[in-house]
Amino acid sequence: MNSFNNKRVLVLGASSWLGYLLVEKLGSTSASVAGTVFKSNVIFPESIEIFRTENSKDNYDKIIKSFKPTVIVNFLRGEDKEGFELHQKIITLSKDFNIHYIYASSVLALDGYKNKKLTESLEAKSVSPYGIFKANCERELYKSSILWTVLRFSSVQGWVSHKPTRNQVFLEKLANNLIVNVDRGVKQNRILATLLIEGLLDLIKDKVTGIIHFGAKDASEEYVFLQKQAQLFGFNKDLVQLVDMDRNVNLVAIPEKMYQLYNGKYKVSEDKTLQGLLEIEALKAFKIRK
Ligand SMILES: NC(=O)c1ccc[n+]([C@@H]2O[C@H](COP(=O)([O-])OP(=O)(O)OC[C@H]3O[C@@H](n4cnc5c(N)ncnc54)[C@H](OP(=O)(O)O)[C@@H]3O)[C@@H](O)[C@H]2O)c1
Repeated sequence: MNSFNNKRVLVLGASSWLGYLLVEKLGSTSASVAGTVFKSNVIFPESIEIFRTENSKDNYDKIIKSFKPTVIVNFLRGEDKEGFELHQKIITLSKDFNIHYIYASSVLALDGYKNKKLTESLEAKSVSPYGIFKANCERELYKSSILWTVLRFSSVQGWVSHKPTRNQVFLEKLANNLIVNVDRGVKQNRILATLLIEGLLDLIKDKVTGIIHFGAKDASEEYVFLQKQAQLFGFNKDLVQLVDMDRNVNLVAIPEKMYQLYNGKYKVSEDKTLQGLLEIEALKAFKIRK
C-alpha cells in the first residue's frame, strides 16, 4: 500500500490559502513537510520547516538542496517573468534530484477554447493574461522529462485561519448590506478547498502524474452560485446583482481522472459545496437566524 513514509514534501507558497491547508494536512501524516514563504508572517504548526525566500531564485536552490524534497507542490502566485523563470528553475532542479513536481495551474489555462468540453486531454490554450501565464508554465512541463502533475481547477470555496477567503469577504459584504455586482457568463464547477487538498494528498501518496482536473459534477453561473450562497446564509438573494457585461467564459473542468481513480470520492455536487460552507465554524457566524 502507498503511504507517506519517506515522502519529503516542499510546498512553495505555504502561506497561500491552499498551501496552508496542505501543510496543515500533511503535518498529520508520516511525510516530512517544509514550506516557503514570500512576504507574509503566518504562524505555522511547529512540525513544518519554513524557509523565507525573499523571492530570490538562488534561495530556492539552497532550500531544495538543504531539504531534499521528493515532491514539490507549487502554489505560488506571481504571474510574471520572475515567476516563470522560477518555474523553469524548479523543473531543472526536479530533473537533477528526481523530484515529483506538482504545479497548480487553473482552468483559465483553457479559456482559449470556445464551444469545447474542457477535458484533461486538452493542452493549455489561453487568451487571458493569468491563463496565458499558467498555459506557458504547463507547456514547460509537457516538454520536460521529469515526473510532473498539473492541477487545473476553478475558484475553490471555504475558509482558512490566516487570511480572508472569497466566501468570507462575500458574506461580510452581505452582512453590511452591500450590493455585490457580478458579471454574466462565468460558468464554473466549484468545490471546497479542503476537498481539493484531500484529493491532492491522494495524488501525492499515489504519485499520480499528468493533467488532473478538480471540480464538482455540476456547474453554475457565478451569480446563481452567489445568490444560492446568500440565501443559504439567510440573506436576500437580490443583494447579488448582475451587471450588463457578459464574459462568456466556460471554466467547467471535467475531472474524469479523480472521479475514476478514487471511485467517486471526489464526485460531489455544487450543492454539497454550498452545504460544506455552512458547516465551517467561522462562516456559521454569518448565518442569519430567523
Ligand atoms: N484559489 C483559487 O480559487 C485558485 C483557482 C485556480 C488556481 N489557483 C492557483 O492555486 C495556487 C494557490 O492559490 P491560492 O488562492 O491558495 O493563493 P493565495 O492565497 O493567493 O497565495 C498566493 C501565494 O503566492 C505567494 N506570492 C504572491 N506573489 C508572489 C510573487 N510575486 N512571488 C512569489 N510568491 C508570491 C504568496 O506568498 P506570501 O503570502 O508569503 O506573500 C502566497 O503564498 C495559485 O498558483 C493559484 O494561481 C487558485
